[in-house]
Amino acid sequence: MNSAGRLADKVCLITGGARGQGAAEARLFQREGARVWIADVLDAEGEDLAVSLGCEYRHLDVSNEAAWVSVVADMVADEGRIDVLINNAGIFRNNRLVETSLTEFEQVMAINSTGVFLGMRTVAPHMMEAGKGSIVNISSLAGLRGAARAVAYGASKWAVRGMTKTAAIEFARHGVRVNSIHPGIIETPMAEQLGVGTDRIARRTPLGRSADADEVARMALFLASDESSYSTGSEFIIDGGLNAL
Ligand SMILES: NC(=O)c1ccc[n+]([C@@H]2O[C@H](COP(=O)([O-])OP(=O)(O)OC[C@H]3O[C@@H](n4cnc5c(N)ncnc54)[C@H](O)[C@@H]3O)[C@@H](O)[C@H]2O)c1
Repeated sequence: MNSAGRLADKVCLITGGARGQGAAEARLFQREGARVWIADVLDAEGEDLAVSLGCEYRHLDVSNEAAWVSVVADMVADEGRIDVLINNAGIFRNNRLVETSLTEFEQVMAINSTGVFLGMRTVAPHMMEAGKGSIVNISSLAGLRGAARAVAYGASKWAVRGMTKTAAIEFARHGVRVNSIHPGIIETPMAEQLGVGTDRIARRTPLGRSADADEVARMALFLASDESSYSTGSEFIIDGGLNAL
């Protein structure tokens, strides 16, 4: 059943896969022949999606190291390996720097940055042992430029970009590639948190619109697959031209 497609038989773990971009990636990857495992904290949505796709769902708070160890052990026991890790789970908080509490800053960093670190820390040894693997870390345009009213989010996404490069250099000789994706405005529940600002930013985007989650999923598919075999440690921007302004 999974013998054809651009990800034929690849075992893929997608964090934050219950909705939004992660769910779009789960659907596309499954269609392309992958054996998909969705992990999230939104259990009802994640389980419903897994049932509809015929894939696996696991509860995983990406900021919890013990939870990572347990989910990855399950995957390796069931599948024998992990070929692709999409570190996609994330949260957004919209506050000026002087209005951002330490608790809020640390919560955003724990999920968006520490979560990515723990994911790579837990999965990469299995990939290196197998001598192959692709890790895709979802950063943001806010990890390339300044982001007003999003100091914690911006810090967390710049950290993802930096960790991606360190990991890429360290893992390269073991056959494991690591890249970051930097989306602009993508129509998901998270973008709704930007409220009226989303429309304004979309209008001033050169392509004149926001993106659908499927458009990001197609870039993640390229990076997950062997088609991107010579790319590692790189930033892949998908922003309708915003960063060119
Ligand atoms: N939507 C955008 O415009 C945009 C732009 C740039 C980057 N991003 C990034 O894209 C990624 C996906 O976001 P999205 O737009 O699909 O948003 P979303 O809010 O729809 O999805 C995020 C998912 O992450 C999950 N999640 C949150 N905390 C978690 C935790 N502790 N452990 C596990 N899962 C957790 C959520 O439950 C949700 O399913 C995020 O990393 C986000 O920062 C989004």
